Amino acid sequence: MRKTIIAGNWKMNKLVAESVATVEALKPLVAGVDTVEIVVCPVFTSLYATGQALAGSNIQMGAQNSYVKAEGAYTGEIAPQMLLDVGCQWTILGHSERRHILGETDAFLNEKLHFALNAGLKVMFCIGELLEEREGGQMEAVLTRQITEGTKGLTEAQWEQVVIAYEPVWAIGTGKTASPEQAEEAHAFTRGLVCNLFGAAVADAVRIQYGGSVKGENAAELIAKPNVDGFLVGGAALKADSFAAIVRAAA
Ligand code: PGA
Repeated sequence: MRKTIIAGNWKMNKLVAESVATVEALKPLVAGVDTVEIVVCPVFTSLYATGQALAGSNIQMGAQNSYVKAEGAYTGEIAPQMLLDVGCQWTILGHSERRHILGETDAFLNEKLHFALNAGLKVMFCIGELLEEREGGQMEAVLTRQITEGTKGLTEAQWEQVVIAYEPVWAIGTGKTASPEQAEEAHAFTRGLVCNLFGAAVADAVRIQYGGSVKGENAAELIAKPNVDGFLVGGAALKADSFAAIVRAAA
Protein backbone atom coordinates (compact mmCIF):
# COMPACT_ATOMS: atom_id res chain seq x y z
CA MET A 1 0.00 0.00 0.00
CA ARG A 2 1.54 3.29 -1.10
CA LYS A 3 1.08 6.12 1.38
CA THR A 4 -0.47 9.22 -0.14
CA ILE A 5 1.91 12.18 -0.31
CA ILE A 6 0.73 15.74 -0.83
CA ALA A 7 3.23 18.54 -1.27
CA GLY A 8 2.75 22.26 -1.62
CA ASN A 9 5.14 23.92 -4.04
CA TRP A 10 5.00 27.58 -3.12
CA LYS A 11 7.25 28.54 -6.05
CA MET A 12 8.73 32.06 -5.82
CA ASN A 13 6.22 33.37 -3.30
CA LYS A 14 6.08 34.51 0.34
CA LEU A 15 8.46 36.46 2.54
CA VAL A 16 9.63 34.86 5.78
CA ALA A 17 6.75 36.14 7.91
CA GLU A 18 4.19 35.02 5.32
CA SER A 19 5.73 31.56 5.13
CA VAL A 20 5.66 31.14 8.89
CA ALA A 21 2.09 32.47 9.10
CA THR A 22 0.99 30.00 6.42
CA VAL A 23 2.34 26.96 8.25
CA GLU A 24 1.06 28.25 11.61
CA ALA A 25 -2.40 28.36 10.01
CA LEU A 26 -1.92 24.99 8.33
CA LYS A 27 -0.78 23.04 11.39
CA PRO A 28 -4.13 22.93 13.24
CA LEU A 29 -6.03 22.25 9.99
CA VAL A 30 -4.11 19.02 9.32
CA ALA A 31 -3.26 18.04 12.90
CA GLY A 32 -3.83 14.35 13.48
CA VAL A 33 -3.80 13.46 9.76
CA ASP A 34 -1.56 10.39 9.60
CA THR A 35 -2.76 8.66 6.44
CA VAL A 36 -1.17 11.34 4.25
CA GLU A 37 2.44 12.55 4.17
CA ILE A 38 2.32 16.34 4.04
CA VAL A 39 5.18 18.49 2.72
CA VAL A 40 5.54 22.24 2.16
CA CYS A 41 8.21 23.70 -0.12
CA PRO A 42 8.98 27.38 0.60
CA VAL A 43 11.62 29.55 -1.09
CA PHE A 44 15.19 29.15 0.21
CA THR A 45 15.10 32.34 2.27
CA SER A 46 12.07 31.10 4.24
CA LEU A 47 13.31 27.57 4.91
CA TYR A 48 15.02 28.07 8.26
CA ALA A 49 12.18 29.97 9.93
CA THR A 50 9.54 27.72 8.40
CA GLY A 51 11.40 24.64 9.60
CA GLN A 52 11.47 26.05 13.11
CA ALA A 53 7.72 26.67 12.97
CA LEU A 54 7.10 23.11 11.73
CA ALA A 55 9.12 21.40 14.48
CA GLY A 56 7.10 18.69 16.18
CA SER A 57 4.27 18.84 13.60
CA ASN A 58 3.17 16.24 11.05
CA ILE A 59 4.30 18.51 8.19
CA GLN A 60 7.64 17.97 6.46
CA MET A 61 9.60 20.52 4.47
CA GLY A 62 11.19 20.50 1.06
CA ALA A 63 13.22 22.87 -1.07
CA GLN A 64 12.38 23.62 -4.69
CA ASN A 65 15.81 22.87 -6.16
CA SER A 66 19.33 21.82 -5.20
CA TYR A 67 22.77 21.78 -6.81
CA VAL A 68 25.31 19.03 -7.57
CA LYS A 69 28.14 20.09 -5.24
CA ALA A 70 28.42 20.21 -1.46
CA GLU A 71 30.26 23.56 -1.35
CA GLY A 72 32.63 25.72 -3.30
CA ALA A 73 32.80 28.31 -6.05
CA TYR A 74 29.25 27.97 -7.38
CA THR A 75 27.81 31.43 -6.90
CA GLY A 76 24.09 31.45 -6.25
CA GLU A 77 23.65 27.70 -5.86
CA ILE A 78 22.48 25.72 -2.79
CA ALA A 79 23.80 22.31 -1.71
CA PRO A 80 21.56 19.48 -0.47
CA GLN A 81 23.71 19.46 2.68
CA MET A 82 22.64 23.06 3.33
CA LEU A 83 18.99 22.17 2.86
CA LEU A 84 19.28 19.32 5.38
CA ASP A 85 20.99 21.77 7.74
CA VAL A 86 17.90 24.04 7.79
CA GLY A 87 15.43 21.21 8.29
CA CYS A 88 14.51 19.98 4.81
CA GLN A 89 13.78 16.32 4.25
CA TRP A 90 12.95 16.81 0.56
CA THR A 91 13.85 18.68 -2.57
CA ILE A 92 11.84 19.07 -5.75
CA LEU A 93 13.92 18.41 -8.89
CA GLY A 94 13.02 18.76 -12.55
CA HIS A 95 10.01 21.01 -12.15
CA SER A 96 8.81 22.11 -15.58
CA GLU A 97 9.65 25.72 -14.74
CA ARG A 98 13.26 24.70 -14.17
CA ARG A 99 13.31 22.56 -17.30
CA HIS A 100 11.68 25.10 -19.60
CA ILE A 101 12.52 28.52 -18.11
CA LEU A 102 15.95 27.72 -16.61
CA GLY A 103 16.97 25.20 -19.26
CA GLU A 104 17.76 22.20 -17.06
CA THR A 105 18.43 19.05 -19.08
CA ASP A 106 17.66 15.40 -18.34
CA ALA A 107 21.37 14.69 -17.86
CA PHE A 108 21.81 17.57 -15.40
CA LEU A 109 18.69 16.50 -13.51
CA ASN A 110 20.04 12.97 -13.29
CA GLU A 111 23.21 14.36 -11.74
CA LYS A 112 21.16 16.48 -9.31
CA LEU A 113 19.01 13.49 -8.38
CA HIS A 114 21.99 11.29 -7.54
CA PHE A 115 23.72 14.06 -5.63
CA ALA A 116 20.67 14.93 -3.53
CA LEU A 117 19.96 11.29 -2.68
CA ASN A 118 23.57 10.58 -1.78
CA ALA A 119 23.51 13.61 0.53
CA GLY A 120 20.45 12.20 2.32
CA LEU A 121 17.61 14.25 0.85
CA LYS A 122 14.46 12.66 -0.52
CA VAL A 123 13.42 13.85 -3.97
CA MET A 124 10.18 14.68 -5.74
CA PHE A 125 11.25 14.22 -9.35
CA CYS A 126 8.99 16.00 -11.84
CA ILE A 127 8.16 14.92 -15.36
CA GLY A 128 5.52 15.99 -17.84
CA GLU A 129 4.82 16.93 -21.43
CA LEU A 130 4.13 20.32 -23.03
CA LEU A 131 0.79 20.96 -24.72
CA GLU A 132 2.31 20.74 -28.20
CA GLU A 133 3.99 17.46 -27.27
CA ARG A 134 0.66 15.99 -26.10
CA GLU A 135 -1.16 17.28 -29.18
CA GLY A 136 1.61 15.91 -31.39
CA GLY A 137 1.20 12.43 -29.89
CA GLN A 138 4.55 12.73 -28.10
CA MET A 139 3.46 12.28 -24.48
CA GLU A 140 4.76 8.75 -24.12
CA ALA A 141 8.05 9.55 -25.84
CA VAL A 142 8.62 12.56 -23.58
CA LEU A 143 7.86 10.65 -20.38
CA THR A 144 10.06 7.78 -21.57
CA ARG A 145 12.98 10.13 -22.17
CA GLN A 146 12.52 12.01 -18.87
CA ILE A 147 12.36 8.80 -16.82
CA THR A 148 15.01 6.86 -18.74
CA GLU A 149 17.60 9.64 -18.72
CA GLY A 150 16.51 11.38 -15.52
CA THR A 151 16.51 8.37 -13.21
CA LYS A 152 19.38 6.48 -14.84
CA GLY A 153 21.52 4.50 -12.42
CA LEU A 154 19.25 4.60 -9.37
CA THR A 155 19.45 1.60 -7.07
CA GLU A 156 16.44 -0.09 -5.54
CA ALA A 157 17.36 1.47 -2.18
CA GLN A 158 17.60 4.94 -3.73
CA TRP A 159 14.18 4.54 -5.31
CA GLU A 160 12.69 4.30 -1.80
CA GLN A 161 13.68 7.95 -1.37
CA VAL A 162 12.14 9.13 -4.65
CA VAL A 163 8.61 10.22 -5.51
CA ILE A 164 7.71 10.93 -9.13
CA ALA A 165 5.50 13.94 -9.85
CA TYR A 166 3.65 13.76 -13.17
CA GLU A 167 2.82 17.34 -14.09
CA PRO A 168 1.49 17.92 -17.60
CA VAL A 169 2.84 21.38 -18.36
CA TRP A 170 -0.44 22.48 -19.97
CA ALA A 171 -2.19 21.92 -16.63
CA ILE A 172 0.26 23.83 -14.42
CA GLY A 173 -1.14 27.13 -13.22
CA THR A 174 -3.72 27.16 -16.01
CA GLY A 175 -6.80 26.04 -14.10
CA LYS A 176 -7.01 23.25 -16.70
CA THR A 177 -6.64 20.04 -14.69
CA ALA A 178 -5.97 16.73 -16.41
CA SER A 179 -9.07 14.57 -16.18
CA PRO A 180 -8.79 11.67 -13.75
CA GLU A 181 -8.61 9.39 -16.81
CA GLN A 182 -5.80 11.39 -18.40
CA ALA A 183 -3.87 11.41 -15.13
CA GLU A 184 -4.38 7.69 -14.60
CA GLU A 185 -3.26 6.91 -18.15
CA ALA A 186 -0.02 8.88 -17.76
CA HIS A 187 0.65 7.51 -14.27
CA ALA A 188 0.08 3.92 -15.37
CA PHE A 189 2.37 4.49 -18.34
CA THR A 190 5.05 5.95 -16.06
CA ARG A 191 4.79 3.05 -13.61
CA GLY A 192 5.16 0.66 -16.55
CA LEU A 193 8.31 2.48 -17.62
CA VAL A 194 9.77 2.17 -14.13
CA CYS A 195 8.86 -1.51 -14.17
CA ASN A 196 10.66 -2.09 -17.47
CA LEU A 197 13.75 -0.24 -16.33
CA PHE A 198 13.99 -1.14 -12.63
CA GLY A 199 11.67 -4.09 -12.03
CA ALA A 200 8.25 -4.74 -10.54
CA ALA A 201 9.18 -4.23 -6.89
CA VAL A 202 10.41 -0.69 -7.51
CA ALA A 203 7.47 0.11 -9.79
CA ASP A 204 4.87 -1.17 -7.31
CA ALA A 205 6.37 0.81 -4.44
CA VAL A 206 7.11 4.15 -6.10
CA ARG A 207 4.60 6.88 -5.47
CA ILE A 208 3.45 9.00 -8.40
CA GLN A 209 1.97 12.40 -7.57
CA TYR A 210 -0.21 14.32 -9.98
CA GLY A 211 0.36 18.06 -10.36
CA GLY A 212 -1.46 20.69 -12.39
CA SER A 213 -4.30 22.85 -11.06
CA VAL A 214 -5.18 20.50 -8.21
CA LYS A 215 -7.71 21.99 -5.79
CA GLY A 216 -10.08 20.81 -3.08
CA GLU A 217 -12.85 20.34 -5.63
CA ASN A 218 -10.98 17.94 -7.95
CA ALA A 219 -8.66 16.17 -5.48
CA ALA A 220 -11.04 13.37 -4.46
CA GLU A 221 -11.76 12.14 -7.99
CA LEU A 222 -8.09 12.24 -8.95
CA ILE A 223 -6.85 10.42 -5.85
CA ALA A 224 -9.47 7.71 -6.42
CA LYS A 225 -7.47 6.50 -9.44
CA PRO A 226 -5.32 3.48 -8.61
CA ASN A 227 -2.04 4.96 -9.90
CA VAL A 228 -2.48 8.44 -8.42
CA ASP A 229 -0.63 8.40 -5.09
CA GLY A 230 -0.70 12.05 -4.15
CA PHE A 231 -0.36 15.60 -5.42
CA LEU A 232 2.16 18.33 -6.03
CA VAL A 233 0.12 21.47 -5.57
CA GLY A 234 1.08 24.99 -6.66
CA GLY A 235 -1.50 27.77 -6.51
CA ALA A 236 -3.89 26.04 -4.11
CA ALA A 237 -1.03 25.36 -1.69
CA LEU A 238 -0.38 29.04 -1.05
CA LYS A 239 -3.31 29.35 1.34
CA ALA A 240 -3.57 27.09 4.37
CA ASP A 241 -7.29 26.44 4.02
CA SER A 242 -7.25 25.48 0.33
CA PHE A 243 -4.19 23.24 0.85
CA ALA A 244 -5.80 21.61 3.90
CA ALA A 245 -8.94 20.97 1.86
CA ILE A 246 -6.85 18.92 -0.60
CA VAL A 247 -5.23 16.98 2.25
CA ARG A 248 -8.64 16.25 3.74
CA ALA A 249 -10.09 15.20 0.38
CA ALA A 250 -7.29 12.65 0.05
CA ALA A 251 -7.08 11.50 3.69
P1 PGA B 1 -0.50 24.46 -9.95
O1 PGA B 1 1.09 24.15 -9.94
O2 PGA B 1 -1.12 23.61 -8.87
O3 PGA B 1 -0.59 25.93 -9.64
O4 PGA B 1 -0.99 24.12 -11.31
C1 PGA B 1 1.57 22.85 -9.79
C2 PGA B 1 3.07 22.82 -9.83
O5 PGA B 1 3.65 23.53 -10.65
O6 PGA B 1 3.72 22.11 -9.04
